[in-house]
Amino acid sequence: MDKLAIIGGRPLYGEIPISGAKNSALKVMVASLLTDKPLTLTNVPRLADVEMLLRLLEQHGVEVDFEGSTLKLHGRTITSTEAPYDLVRKMRASFNVLGPLLAREGKAKVSLPGGCAIGARPVDLHLKALTAMGAAIELDEGYVIAEAPKGLHGAEVTFPFVSVGATEHAMLAAVLADGETVLKNAAREPEITDLAECLNAMGAKVSDAGTSTIKIEGVAQLNTAQHAVLPDRIETGAYAMAVGATGGELTLKGARSDLLGAAWSVLEEAGLTIEDVDGGVRVKRNGNPVKAVDIVTQPFPGFPTDLQAQFMALMVTANGVSRIKETIFENRFMHAPELSRMGANISVDGQTATVRGVKRLKGAPVMATDLRASMSLVIAGLAAEGQTMINRVYHLDRGFERLEEKLANCGALIERVRE
Ligand code: EPZ
Repeated sequence: MDKLAIIGGRPLYGEIPISGAKNSALKVMVASLLTDKPLTLTNVPRLADVEMLLRLLEQHGVEVDFEGSTLKLHGRTITSTEAPYDLVRKMRASFNVLGPLLAREGKAKVSLPGGCAIGARPVDLHLKALTAMGAAIELDEGYVIAEAPKGLHGAEVTFPFVSVGATEHAMLAAVLADGETVLKNAAREPEITDLAECLNAMGAKVSDAGTSTIKIEGVAQLNTAQHAVLPDRIETGAYAMAVGATGGELTLKGARSDLLGAAWSVLEEAGLTIEDVDGGVRVKRNGNPVKAVDIVTQPFPGFPTDLQAQFMALMVTANGVSRIKETIFENRFMHAPELSRMGANISVDGQTATVRGVKRLKGAPVMATDLRASMSLVIAGLAAEGQTMINRVYHLDRGFERLEEKLANCGALIERVRE
């Protein structure tokens, strides 16, 4: 398994190109199952998760042509409506093939999903929405077996709490359903709006995406379209936090500050300057070190759970005490003991981590536990004195495109050790 070796203590200066958003790309790729016409996606990041989903789509019969960051998908005919355990278990986003297969073919058998080990992560809300649209669903030996012999119909679905995945899944199924679907208490993440834009480019009628009530008027068929995936707000935030931890100044090319939600003002409060510049966002740290700030993770536009780990890495050397409350996932503090190995002072009590800023971190061998936790260790390693060796880098390869190259170009001493 590859490792990352980092010699910390150097400020970051330069430009980092921000890739297309993983969590948007994975959903718009699934939209290719909804039509027998080609779908062209641009700004698609080259990530292990994207490759994994491509294998699943190919298995359903989708033709794939991936050149640079342009991905052409053509679901001319669906050759299989079954998504096997081996292809679904590693990544939760794969589960979203269920709705489109059901909408187009009237049946599907999809393994229950896996993904990062950050909590129980059930799919009850996904199934609730599909059932409301007329699907008959059974669970059998780890598989969801769904049928809609008369097709799906529009429905009013009220989610008891906000779920990004369930909102997207319901949208993907409803675009071909008969009649109107109304999704209440829907997620408002930028990736939802991006999916709606892609579906509408294909001829769907989705309105009010980005608000908590989304309306979808079903259409008989979808057409060929081209769509550019929006920039990755989590990658943007992670590099902003890296510069907060090391000092320096980065221009994040292609980034959009409006996608950062509450993270923007939190970083400003901590002592970063973030400004829109031509073609991106410029971030720099004012003074040394940053100031401790409390956060609570929330659905968009609140502070994103996907930046919580990276923010903790910024807070470990901040001036003061920061309280970090995680409300979305119940097991998302696995980076805390690893950061402590580097000298951080963190105590976790249930949903809240209390981080008492220390003067400096010392490099150490640490283990990446999940995608965003791994990035928090990279940030800590960049700021620490001496060498940090991060084990299990495959987590990072799932979600951060060309990480070492992007950081090394800005002065970081970071190297992949292949084993
Ligand atoms: C998406 O996961 C993202 N993944 C996650 O990013 C992100 O952390 C999360 O949204 C929240 O923003 C992808 O887009 C591929 P949810 P998702 O449904 O859709 C519970 C990363 O690091 N829930 O909004 O799975 C669930 O357990 C990943 O890139 C149910 O109880 O998140 C969680 O506690 C990690 N039943 C909460 O809702 C359901 O049917 C929110 O989850 C669905 C969800």
